[in-house]
Amino acid sequence: MASVTLEQVSKIYGDKGKTGNRAVKSVNMAIHDGEIISLLGSSGCGKTSTLRMIAGFESVSEGAIRIGDRVINQLKPAERNVAMAFEGYALYPPLTVSDNIAFSLLRNKVPRAEVTRRVRHVAELLEITDILQAYPPTLSGGQQQRVSLARALVRDADLYLLDEPMSQLEPQLRAVLRGRIKEYLIEHRMTSVFVTHDQTEAVALSDRIAVMSNGVLQQFASPADLKERPANLFVAGFIGEPAMNLMPARLSLRDGQLCAVVAAQAGSGEALRVSFGALDRIHPAAALHEGQKVHLGVRPHKVVLGHSPAGTQAARGTLAFNQWQGDQSHVGIDLGGHTLLVVTDGAVDVDADQPVTLGLPLQALHLFDSDSELALVHGTDLR
Ligand SMILES: Nc1ncnc2c1ncn2[C@@H]1O[C@H](COP(=O)(O)OP(=O)(O)O)[C@@H](O)[C@H]1O
Ligand SMILES: [Mg+2]
Repeated sequence: MASVTLEQVSKIYGDKGKTGNRAVKSVNMAIHDGEIISLLGSSGCGKTSTLRMIAGFESVSEGAIRIGDRVINQLKPAERNVAMAFEGYALYPPLTVSDNIAFSLLRNKVPRAEVTRRVRHVAELLEITDILQAYPPTLSGGQQQRVSLARALVRDADLYLLDEPMSQLEPQLRAVLRGRIKEYLIEHRMTSVFVTHDQTEAVALSDRIAVMSNGVLQQFASPADLKERPANLFVAGFIGEPAMNLMPARLSLRDGQLCAVVAAQAGSGEALRVSFGALDRIHPAAALHEGQKVHLGVRPHKVVLGHSPAGTQAARGTLAFNQWQGDQSHVGIDLGGHTLLVVTDGAVDVDADQPVTLGLPLQALHLFDSDSELALVHGTDLR
């Protein structure tokens, strides 16, 4: 077990000069001993490149990677004591599944009886006991993937690197295995890095999630912090399903009160005005100025539909659409030409174009600077 540190790590494919493809850009990250983290982002954002640099399958173009306190940039993969499950990191076809999983333990002279017990244990965990005597070429993609995962999890490594390790499994099985794998990792205090593009998976597995976009680490934080305190507009829009409502607005700082005003799309009226209260509750208020262009954010689940209970600010709009999803309603509310999405548990009995009252909880509101795209204020910080 060990901590892992990335210092200004970049990956440049091809020519290191101007023509090279900078796939990972100056990433800084400190993963604690025993921590489970995920690299999360859409396809091509640099997750696999980052993982492969930690594993040693790709050179580090710039910066340093440490495991514990030793820099490992120049070490071969086998010298890093890292266990991996990667797409394309093949099983040995002439060995049975059991022998594939046992291979590195036997090489490290772990006693036979213990090897048998540990192989059995991970096989049960991943539901592959029935194929332990089979040969890899006869297995389905999902089975091969679980064998790869078992082969990594059974090892005594400093670090476990798992790149989309359950991508080929049925959703139900994936959900079950996710829970079991997490328990196993915690029980054995295994420092682990998952790569995934599935935020549900990242949230379920991870202590912290590193959100990446276009080679840049956007935020590295707990699932709760990513939701409640997104660092910028990208993370705000990326984390959470359906996405956070983000409306262009202007700040008003009159009488020591911070308000955000959303202008109507047509004409000169106001579509929405919300108050964040006295300016002296906000730190650092110095970053705010009158008329500043901002984005006002609120998550669809947080908006109260039909009334504005204590602790919320009332707004009025008209119903634009109302979609029953089987277990919840997705309701669009027109606010001066902007559509605010609201998600509620029950069915909603309102017809199109009818007036609707909304309740906006202060704690669910966010402000982002429209130019820098950085977060300015989170309602949760104002309690
Ligand atoms: N071996 C390679 N040679 C050149 N470009 C690569 C190579 N591997 C990945 N890339 C490029 O680097 C970027 C990041 O890719 P990757 O790390 O695989 O992203 P992700 O795992 O997030 O989908 C992409 O633009 C991809 O095309
Ligand atoms: Mg990838």
